[in-house]
This record gives sequence, structure tokens and C-alpha cells, in this order.
Amino acid sequence: MPDNEISGAAALVTGASRGFGRGIAAALAKAGARVVGVARDRGPLEELRAGLGGSFTAVPADAADPVVAGQLIDAYRPAIVVLNAGATPLPRPIQHHTWQTFSRNWDTDVAHVFHWTREALLAPLDPGSTVVTLSSGAALAGSPLSGGYAGAKAAIRWLTAYAAEESQRAALGIRFVAVLPQLTPATALGAVFAAAYAARHGAGAAPAAAGPALTPEQVGQAIVDLTGPGYDQAAYLLTGAGLRPLPGHPVDTAEPEEHR
Ligand SMILES: NC(=O)c1ccc[n+]([C@@H]2O[C@H](COP(=O)([O-])OP(=O)(O)OC[C@H]3O[C@@H](n4cnc5c(N)ncnc54)[C@H](OP(=O)(O)O)[C@@H]3O)[C@@H](O)[C@H]2O)c1
Repeated sequence: MPDNEISGAAALVTGASRGFGRGIAAALAKAGARVVGVARDRGPLEELRAGLGGSFTAVPADAADPVVAGQLIDAYRPAIVVLNAGATPLPRPIQHHTWQTFSRNWDTDVAHVFHWTREALLAPLDPGSTVVTLSSGAALAGSPLSGGYAGAKAAIRWLTAYAAEESQRAALGIRFVAVLPQLTPATALGAVFAAAYAARHGAGAAPAAAGPALTPEQVGQAIVDLTGPGYDQAAYLLTGAGLRPLPGHPVDTAEPEEHR
């Protein structure tokens, strides 16, 4: 969507109450969007509304509920959807996970991206709309202390690429893009894992120690940038140094490799 069109556009952000989601909601509101923020706990959402004023609508709800996805897509017809909500997995080595704790991010992060992506394609959202999903750098590097987290985030990247392909095939004009942020101690979730890896490997070896730490404000600005022109790749790595396209994404290939 061109820069000047973000002003007045309806944007919907899941997991908007804290961390990256709060930074994303604030950046979109500052750019002139009318932002609908979803999270389960009403208190922090209301605090954010008090800070952002009339440009923000708080919707306390479970983003992983398919009925919520259908209702909110129908009610707001957002031009920008940011699927950011995510659970914090238990920071433990694999043998200390149960199947239920291992699969937590599949039940929240992946399930919510699945439901909302499906609704966006079926609605369909208007041509020129953008759907951004929050994957993770862990999808590339792994995350041995967080059970099924890295696999769940890799599934989100693939799901987003599949949706981009379906949008292209049906000429819907809806852009789907996955963002893979680097681990940062600047949010509740990130602080848990920065501490867990520092305890395991020593502070200097923690993944978050590589380069400047990513902030929620930088994530917010990156998402605003992604809705503008010049960002036509299907997936981007996001570090303290900014967005970097992930080359050779499978959405650009005519057929899956195993069929060739
Ligand atoms: N921080 C990092 O280092 C990092 C790195 C890579 C990727 N990510 C990804 O970036 C996203 C945001 O992470 P964060 O660090 O900002 O996490 P965070 O600080 O823990 O915030 C998570 C947000 O998601 C909401 N949420 C969780 N489950 C929800 C549900 N079922 N329905 C609605 N809202 C829900 C939370 O509010 P309620 O609890 O009130 O619902 C909160 O607003 C996640 O998808 C995460 O996996 C983070």
C-alpha cells in the first residue's frame, strides 16, 4: 500500500497489548491508521487506548479462536492485518517438555495465523491489503530451549508463503509477508529466552547479544515500512540493523522442489 494510503486505513493487530504488538499498534496509529488491537487481557489494552486515543479500538479476545477471526475480519475489513500474537513457551530442554507444553505455540501462534489467513483469503480482503505474520529467527536457527517454538514459527513462514501463492493464483491483490525477528530481551517473551540462553551458555553467548537489540519501536516502524512500496519479498529477517529480505523464497518457484 503506498505511503499516503496508510492514513485513515483500518489496521488490525493481534497481541497488541505489550511487546512487539504494542510497538506495531503505536507505529500504525502514528502513521494515521485506525488500529484495532486484540489481546486477551483487557487492562493493558485499555492503557494503550488511553495513550493512543481515538485512533485505537481495544478488543479483548482470544485471537486463536476461529470465530473471533471471522467476526473481526467481517466487522472491520482491515487493509492491514498484523498476526503477531504469540505464547511464551516453557524455557526448558526438550526432555523436560510434555507434548502439551511442546505444542503450545502450535495451538496459539500457528492456529491463529491459520484461522486469520484463511479468513483474509476467503473474505477476500480488498486488493492492496497487506497481511503480515510474525515468524521468528528461530525458524532458521532453531531454539533448543523452547520445545516446538522454532517448528511452529517455521510453519508460520510456510503458511504465509502458501497464502501469498493462493492470492497470486486468484489475482486477489492481497500481499502476505512473513517477518522473522531476531531474539531480543526487550519484550516479556524475549527476556525469558535471553535469560535462559545466557544461563545455559554464558551471557556473551546468548543469541540476543549478537548486534544491537531489536526494540518494539523498531519492529513497529519495520511493519509500517513493509506496508509501503519497495518491499515485495515474501519473507524478511528483522534485526536491530533493520529488515533484510530472505532470498530464494519458495513462493517464487513454479513447483515444489520434490516435484521437479
Ligand atoms: N521477543 C522476541 O525476541 C521475539 C523474537 C522473534 C519472534 N517473536 C514473536 O513476536 C510476537 C510478539 O512477541 P513479544 O515478544 O512481543 O511477546 P509478548 O511480549 O509476550 O506479547 C505477546 C502478546 O500476544 C498476546 N497474546 C498471546 N496469546 C494471545 C491469544 N491467544 N489471543 C490474543 N492475544 C494473545 C499477549 O496478550 P494477552 O496475554 O493479554 O493475550 C501480548 O499482547 C510473537 O509471535 C513472538 O513469537 C518475538
